[in-house]
Amino acid sequence: MARNVALIVGSLRKDSFTRKIGRALIELAPDSLHIEQIEIGALPLYNQDLETSPPREWVAFRDRVRPMNAVLFATPEYNRSIPAPLKNAVDVGSRPFGKSVYRAKPCAIASCSPGQYGGFGANHHLRQSCVFLDMPVMQQPELYLAHVDKLLDENGKVIESSRGHLEKFMNAFACWIDVFALSDKQRSAA
Ligand code: FNR
Repeated sequence: MARNVALIVGSLRKDSFTRKIGRALIELAPDSLHIEQIEIGALPLYNQDLETSPPREWVAFRDRVRPMNAVLFATPEYNRSIPAPLKNAVDVGSRPFGKSVYRAKPCAIASCSPGQYGGFGANHHLRQSCVFLDMPVMQQPELYLAHVDKLLDENGKVIESSRGHLEKFMNAFACWIDVFALSDKQRSAA
Protein backbone atom coordinates (compact mmCIF):
# COMPACT_ATOMS: atom_id res chain seq x y z
CA MET A 1 0.00 0.00 0.00
CA ALA A 2 1.35 3.45 -0.92
CA ARG A 3 2.36 5.63 2.02
CA ASN A 4 3.17 9.32 2.14
CA VAL A 5 6.15 10.13 4.28
CA ALA A 6 7.48 13.51 5.39
CA LEU A 7 11.27 13.75 5.48
CA ILE A 8 12.47 16.32 8.01
CA VAL A 9 16.18 17.11 7.90
CA GLY A 10 17.80 18.67 10.95
CA SER A 11 20.53 20.63 9.14
CA LEU A 12 19.99 23.91 7.29
CA ARG A 13 23.46 23.84 5.72
CA LYS A 14 23.56 23.90 1.91
CA ASP A 15 26.20 21.16 1.67
CA SER A 16 24.85 19.25 4.63
CA PHE A 17 25.89 15.60 4.91
CA THR A 18 22.54 14.89 6.55
CA ARG A 19 20.63 16.35 3.60
CA LYS A 20 22.60 14.05 1.29
CA ILE A 21 21.80 11.08 3.51
CA GLY A 22 18.14 12.11 3.42
CA ARG A 23 18.27 12.12 -0.39
CA ALA A 24 19.87 8.67 -0.39
CA LEU A 25 17.17 7.34 1.94
CA ILE A 26 14.53 8.60 -0.51
CA GLU A 27 16.36 6.99 -3.40
CA LEU A 28 16.79 3.65 -1.64
CA ALA A 29 13.27 3.44 -0.22
CA PRO A 30 10.85 0.84 -1.57
CA ASP A 31 8.39 2.09 -4.20
CA SER A 32 5.52 1.98 -1.71
CA LEU A 33 6.95 5.02 0.11
CA HIS A 34 6.37 8.45 -1.40
CA ILE A 35 8.75 10.65 0.52
CA GLU A 36 8.78 14.44 0.38
CA GLN A 37 11.23 16.62 2.21
CA ILE A 38 9.54 19.38 4.20
CA GLU A 39 11.82 22.34 4.85
CA ILE A 40 12.05 23.74 8.38
CA GLY A 41 14.51 26.63 7.99
CA ALA A 42 11.90 29.39 7.65
CA LEU A 43 9.81 28.44 10.68
CA PRO A 44 9.73 31.27 13.22
CA LEU A 45 10.85 30.19 16.68
CA TYR A 46 8.05 28.68 18.68
CA ASN A 47 6.32 31.16 20.95
CA GLN A 48 2.97 30.19 22.40
CA ASP A 49 1.82 33.82 22.37
CA LEU A 50 1.70 33.61 18.56
CA GLU A 51 -0.94 30.87 18.58
CA THR A 52 -3.74 33.48 18.57
CA SER A 53 -2.68 34.27 14.99
CA PRO A 54 -0.07 31.67 13.99
CA PRO A 55 2.65 32.69 11.49
CA ARG A 56 1.83 31.50 7.97
CA GLU A 57 5.03 29.39 7.94
CA TRP A 58 3.73 27.42 10.95
CA VAL A 59 0.34 26.96 9.31
CA ALA A 60 1.92 25.78 6.03
CA PHE A 61 4.24 23.38 7.86
CA ARG A 62 1.43 21.89 9.94
CA ASP A 63 -0.77 21.57 6.84
CA ARG A 64 1.97 19.65 5.02
CA VAL A 65 2.81 17.25 7.84
CA ARG A 66 -0.80 16.57 8.97
CA PRO A 67 -1.93 14.44 5.97
CA MET A 68 1.26 12.34 5.93
CA ASN A 69 1.19 8.70 7.01
CA ALA A 70 4.64 8.75 8.61
CA VAL A 71 7.70 10.88 9.34
CA LEU A 72 11.34 10.16 8.59
CA PHE A 73 13.80 12.28 10.57
CA ALA A 74 17.41 12.68 9.43
CA THR A 75 19.51 14.60 11.89
CA PRO A 76 23.05 15.65 12.63
CA GLU A 77 24.20 16.05 16.22
CA TYR A 78 24.80 19.41 17.84
CA ASN A 79 26.34 19.27 21.29
CA ARG A 80 25.10 15.72 21.80
CA SER A 81 21.53 16.70 20.98
CA ILE A 82 19.45 17.76 17.97
CA PRO A 83 20.00 21.11 16.24
CA ALA A 84 17.71 23.94 17.38
CA PRO A 85 15.82 24.24 14.03
CA LEU A 86 14.79 20.60 14.29
CA LYS A 87 13.62 20.97 17.88
CA ASN A 88 11.69 24.03 16.74
CA ALA A 89 10.01 22.01 13.99
CA VAL A 90 9.11 19.35 16.54
CA ASP A 91 7.63 22.00 18.85
CA VAL A 92 5.77 23.90 16.10
CA GLY A 93 4.14 20.71 14.81
CA SER A 94 3.21 19.53 18.28
CA ARG A 95 0.98 22.49 19.17
CA PRO A 96 -1.65 23.81 19.84
CA PHE A 97 -2.13 21.30 22.63
CA GLY A 98 -4.28 18.40 21.45
CA LYS A 99 -3.74 19.24 17.77
CA SER A 100 -0.27 17.82 17.20
CA VAL A 101 0.34 16.92 13.56
CA TYR A 102 2.74 14.20 14.72
CA ARG A 103 0.38 12.23 16.91
CA ALA A 104 0.19 8.50 16.14
CA LYS A 105 2.40 8.80 13.06
CA PRO A 106 5.05 6.08 12.83
CA CYS A 107 8.54 7.50 12.46
CA ALA A 108 12.16 6.50 12.01
CA ILE A 109 15.30 8.38 12.94
CA ALA A 110 18.55 8.40 10.96
CA SER A 111 21.46 10.26 12.51
CA CYS A 112 24.89 10.95 11.11
CA SER A 113 28.12 12.67 11.95
CA PRO A 114 31.61 13.07 10.55
CA GLY A 115 32.62 11.97 14.05
CA GLN A 116 32.80 8.49 15.46
CA TYR A 117 29.49 8.21 17.33
CA GLY A 118 27.15 8.73 14.38
CA GLY A 119 24.93 11.24 16.16
CA PHE A 120 23.83 8.71 18.79
CA GLY A 121 23.06 11.46 21.33
CA ALA A 122 20.90 13.43 18.88
CA ASN A 123 19.13 10.28 17.76
CA HIS A 124 18.14 9.37 21.30
CA HIS A 125 17.15 12.89 22.34
CA LEU A 126 14.81 12.96 19.35
CA ARG A 127 13.53 9.49 20.23
CA GLN A 128 12.61 10.83 23.68
CA SER A 129 10.49 13.62 22.13
CA CYS A 130 8.86 11.16 19.72
CA VAL A 131 7.78 8.94 22.61
CA PHE A 132 6.09 11.92 24.26
CA LEU A 133 4.51 12.87 20.91
CA ASP A 134 2.90 9.41 20.75
CA MET A 135 4.81 8.49 17.60
CA PRO A 136 5.72 4.82 17.29
CA VAL A 137 9.48 5.12 16.72
CA MET A 138 11.09 2.31 14.73
CA GLN A 139 13.22 0.31 17.13
CA GLN A 140 15.38 -1.74 14.76
CA PRO A 141 17.43 -1.39 12.74
CA GLU A 142 18.94 1.74 14.28
CA LEU A 143 20.85 4.06 11.97
CA TYR A 144 23.83 5.94 13.38
CA LEU A 145 26.11 6.82 10.47
CA ALA A 146 29.59 7.59 11.80
CA HIS A 147 32.28 9.16 9.57
CA VAL A 148 29.51 10.19 7.19
CA ASP A 149 31.92 12.31 5.13
CA LYS A 150 33.63 9.06 4.10
CA LEU A 151 30.32 7.46 3.09
CA LEU A 152 29.64 10.01 0.36
CA ASP A 153 31.42 10.26 -2.99
CA GLU A 154 32.39 13.47 -4.82
CA ASN A 155 28.84 13.77 -6.21
CA GLY A 156 27.31 13.53 -2.76
CA LYS A 157 26.04 9.98 -3.39
CA VAL A 158 26.30 7.25 -0.77
CA ILE A 159 29.09 4.84 -1.68
CA GLU A 160 28.15 1.39 -2.92
CA SER A 161 29.29 -0.47 0.20
CA SER A 162 26.89 1.49 2.43
CA ARG A 163 23.83 1.50 0.22
CA GLY A 164 22.61 -1.93 1.37
CA HIS A 165 22.63 -0.74 4.98
CA LEU A 166 20.40 2.24 4.14
CA GLU A 167 18.17 0.14 1.93
CA LYS A 168 17.60 -2.34 4.76
CA PHE A 169 16.66 0.54 7.07
CA MET A 170 14.09 1.88 4.60
CA ASN A 171 12.59 -1.56 3.92
CA ALA A 172 12.19 -2.07 7.65
CA PHE A 173 10.60 1.39 7.93
CA ALA A 174 8.04 0.49 5.22
CA CYS A 175 7.09 -2.61 7.26
CA TRP A 176 6.96 -0.52 10.44
CA ILE A 177 4.60 1.95 8.76
CA ASP A 178 2.37 -0.92 7.58
CA VAL A 179 2.04 -2.08 11.16
CA PHE A 180 1.46 1.31 12.81
CA ALA A 181 0.00 3.76 10.29
CA LEU A 182 -3.59 4.74 10.99
CA SER A 183 -6.07 4.61 8.13
CA ASP A 184 -7.46 7.97 6.94
CA LYS A 185 -10.69 7.14 8.74
CA GLN A 186 -8.92 6.31 11.99
CA ARG A 187 -6.87 9.49 11.68
CA SER A 188 -9.82 11.77 11.23
CA ALA A 189 -11.51 10.12 14.23
CA ALA A 190 -8.35 10.31 16.39
C1 FNR B 1 28.71 20.04 15.79
N1 FNR B 1 29.20 18.80 15.42
C2 FNR B 1 29.03 17.72 16.28
N2 FNR B 1 29.30 16.43 15.85
C3 FNR B 1 29.06 15.37 16.68
O1 FNR B 1 29.29 14.22 16.30
N3 FNR B 1 28.59 15.57 17.94
C4 FNR B 1 28.31 16.81 18.43
O2 FNR B 1 27.85 16.92 19.57
C5 FNR B 1 28.54 17.92 17.59
N4 FNR B 1 28.26 19.21 18.01
C6 FNR B 1 28.24 20.25 17.12
C7 FNR B 1 27.73 21.48 17.49
C8 FNR B 1 27.63 22.50 16.57
C9 FNR B 1 27.01 23.81 16.98
C10 FNR B 1 28.08 22.30 15.25
C11 FNR B 1 27.97 23.42 14.21
C12 FNR B 1 28.61 21.11 14.87
C13 FNR B 1 29.78 18.60 14.10
C14 FNR B 1 28.69 18.21 13.11
O3 FNR B 1 28.51 16.80 13.18
C15 FNR B 1 29.13 18.59 11.69
O4 FNR B 1 29.22 20.00 11.61
C16 FNR B 1 28.18 18.08 10.63
O5 FNR B 1 28.72 18.33 9.37
C17 FNR B 1 26.79 18.71 10.76
O6 FNR B 1 25.87 18.07 9.91
P1 FNR B 1 25.55 18.59 8.43
O7 FNR B 1 25.26 20.06 8.50
O8 FNR B 1 26.75 18.29 7.58
O9 FNR B 1 24.37 17.78 8.02
